[in-house]
Amino acid sequence: MAIILHDNEFKTIQKLIFKEVGIDLQSSKKTLVQSRLLKRLLFYKLDSYLDYIRLVQINEQERIEMINLITTNETYFFREIEHFEYLQKVIIPNHPFKQKFRFWSAAASVGAEAYSVAILLDKSMAKKDWEIVGTDINTEVIKKARIGLYPEKWADKIPVALKKEYCLKGRGRHEGQFLIDRKLVENMEFKTGNLMKYNGEVGKFDVIFLRNVLIYFDDATKQLVVDNVLKNLKIGGYFVISLTENLNMIDISSLENVSTSIYRKVK
Ligand SMILES: C[S@@+](CC[C@H](N)C(=O)[O-])C[C@H]1O[C@@H](n2cnc3c(N)ncnc32)[C@H](O)[C@@H]1O
Repeated sequence: MAIILHDNEFKTIQKLIFKEVGIDLQSSKKTLVQSRLLKRLLFYKLDSYLDYIRLVQINEQERIEMINLITTNETYFFREIEHFEYLQKVIIPNHPFKQKFRFWSAAASVGAEAYSVAILLDKSMAKKDWEIVGTDINTEVIKKARIGLYPEKWADKIPVALKKEYCLKGRGRHEGQFLIDRKLVENMEFKTGNLMKYNGEVGKFDVIFLRNVLIYFDDATKQLVVDNVLKNLKIGGYFVISLTENLNMIDISSLENVSTSIYRKVK
């Protein structure tokens, strides 16, 4: 017998996700939520979504599982190439000599964005002169980011010469995959982090990418998240959102717009 996610149950899930993650789950996502959570109901042998909701309300680990299933983690290497070109042509060459360059991938997913930047930094700076932090609310994607193992077709967008240098072709049980060169990993750290809170422990950065995540938030949440994240940006540092996102409805008086979807912190 099929287990139906009833409207009132979906509303409770919407509220829970909004409170914990900030994601504004649209009604059109009901079927998707039903199918993604069904495996958890089957795992616990529950026969209603109401029972599952009761479980997540008292069990923090299961709340994490639910968030992992509901977040959308699509990403790829060198996504929105314009941002990487700006980094390479403007930001990196103008970075003060001998001052450590710190980059934050603030909604890192499985790490493709952070590793794309790491490749560029390794090409242009000495090893000790840069550091990357990647954070995400989804604990599963962070585990994958730490490993740095991807399906071979994910390397399609990596320029050929860089692919040869930084992507190690998998053999045996890793046939059809590639592993990011370990020399990059030494300067990188991936950890879980919720953008709804100020992530003070990761420190201050020269560049923050917050791309393809604002799209899931309403304006008030966008403001909260952007305010939180900007506390981690150094004065003069760069803040980058997706080319498909905008900051139109929020207050960004500490920023000046320097290129499409690229901002600089002025105060
Ligand atoms: C679509 S991916 C974007 C990945 C990458 N930035 C890119 O542009 O390719 C969005 C990521 O944001 C994460 N996310 C959503 N809400 C979050 C929150 N409140 N705190 C931290 N990460 C969040 C999701 O788990 C997901 O991995």
